[in-house]
Amino acid sequence: MANILHIDASPRGERSISRSLSYEFITSWKDTHPGDTVTYRDLGHNPVPHVDEPWIAAAFTPPEARTPELTQAIKLSDDLVDEFLAADRYVFGVPMYNFSIPSTFKAYIDQIVRGGRTFAVTENGGFQGLVDSSKKVLIITARGGSFPPGTPFAAYDFQEPYLRTIFGFIGLTDLTFIHGDSLNSGKDARQKSLAAAKDAIAQAVATW
Ligand SMILES: Cc1cc2nc3c(=O)[nH]c(=O)nc-3n(C[C@H](O)[C@H](O)[C@H](O)COP(=O)(O)O)c2cc1C
Repeated sequence: MANILHIDASPRGERSISRSLSYEFITSWKDTHPGDTVTYRDLGHNPVPHVDEPWIAAAFTPPEARTPELTQAIKLSDDLVDEFLAADRYVFGVPMYNFSIPSTFKAYIDQIVRGGRTFAVTENGGFQGLVDSSKKVLIITARGGSFPPGTPFAAYDFQEPYLRTIFGFIGLTDLTFIHGDSLNSGKDARQKSLAAAKDAIAQAVATW
């Protein structure tokens, strides 16, 4: 039995493709894994704040040395990290915005990538992820275009490489991507891509 952290980042509701695809995965997963629990966070409609000066001061002050004000300034981040670490698996629905991720998802990442909590600085100045590397991450994206490896368009994709880097940085290296792409590239390309994404979701439900 696993606890899955399911996060959506699109500000759109029913029109959102990333949201509908992540929902499709989660509902099928729940059908086949009824004992699993799902913790849901909707960043698209309920964004978390950007980090600010008190947050930074608190993050770089050891917990035992924090004033009550600094403890309060980092409380939401601590709660988000607790929620993140309590999950056994992760399912994220993430649109591509300007070749990367929406700022809502970036604000969330800034809240949970925390020295001493999700990564550590080693004695020789290196970094070590603190999240259990056996935990799996499924990222379902929605993109207007398409950025296949080996084509000139691949260089525009700062979404998958960034997400691989930042989650790898905190220890999560078992990432699976399903791209709902070509969504603004004409009806045929859109339908073909959505059908492929749905096939990939069915496969992920069976094998993830
Ligand atoms: C502000 C904004 C920026 C976008 N930037 C890109 C982009 O750089 N590349 C791309 O392929 N699609 C881009 N798109 C298209 C979205 O990725 C596409 O509409 C996707 O379906 C959005 O996700 P959603 O359907 O879950 O809301 C952009 C859309 C918006 C609203």
